[in-house]
Amino acid sequence: MCIRDRITIERLEIAPDSRVVDVGCGTGAALRHAAAKVTGGTLRGFDPVPRMVEIARERLAEHPAAGRIEIDVAPAHELPIEGDSADLVLALDSYDHWGEGQADGLAEVRRVLAAGGRFVIVKDGGVPGSDDSRDAFVSEVEAAGFVVQEEESIAAEEVAFTMWICVASA
Ligand SMILES: C[S@@+](CC[C@H](N)C(=O)[O-])C[C@H]1O[C@@H](n2cnc3c(N)ncnc32)[C@H](O)[C@@H]1O
Repeated sequence: MCIRDRITIERLEIAPDSRVVDVGCGTGAALRHAAAKVTGGTLRGFDPVPRMVEIARERLAEHPAAGRIEIDVAPAHELPIEGDSADLVLALDSYDHWGEGQADGLAEVRRVLAAGGRFVIVKDGGVPGSDDSRDAFVSEVEAAGFVVQEEESIAAEEVAFTMWICVASA
């Protein structure tokens, strides 16, 4: 969802030389917004649905950042990039779509995240601490080798979502 993706990117501090990877990037909205901040780094998106990648590439074609964003077909559990190669990994309303690949997807994100990197997960709706599904989700993330550094519920414009900023555990 474009509004939520824009608000998420606006709220994150992202250095111009960041290497950003969007897992389950859908139509690529977050990467197009991130391109305004990431002027010297890399922007890569992955989605396992070929039609989604096609749409993302079509939307990118008309965008000023065309040529600076790469979008390819891949699921979360098989990211075709080197280990320790991303400073910021995004999963914006995509984690719940990873299905049976969730645990392997988290391991894959942990593999590609460079030292000091952040893994940002966004889920639509939800209030932190209010339900069992939130606790189960945080346990899954922690079991995969992450620590939740920040957890925030955001309601702005017409959208409400929860954002978790995670880092690799020591
Ligand atoms: C609700 S959409 C969100 C898209 C985009 N991140 C956004 O914020 O608009 C969920 C996306 O997750 C993708 N997806 C489904 N299974 C996936 C998997 N195993 N790994 C990564 N992404 C997946 C879907 O194809 C879809 O594009």
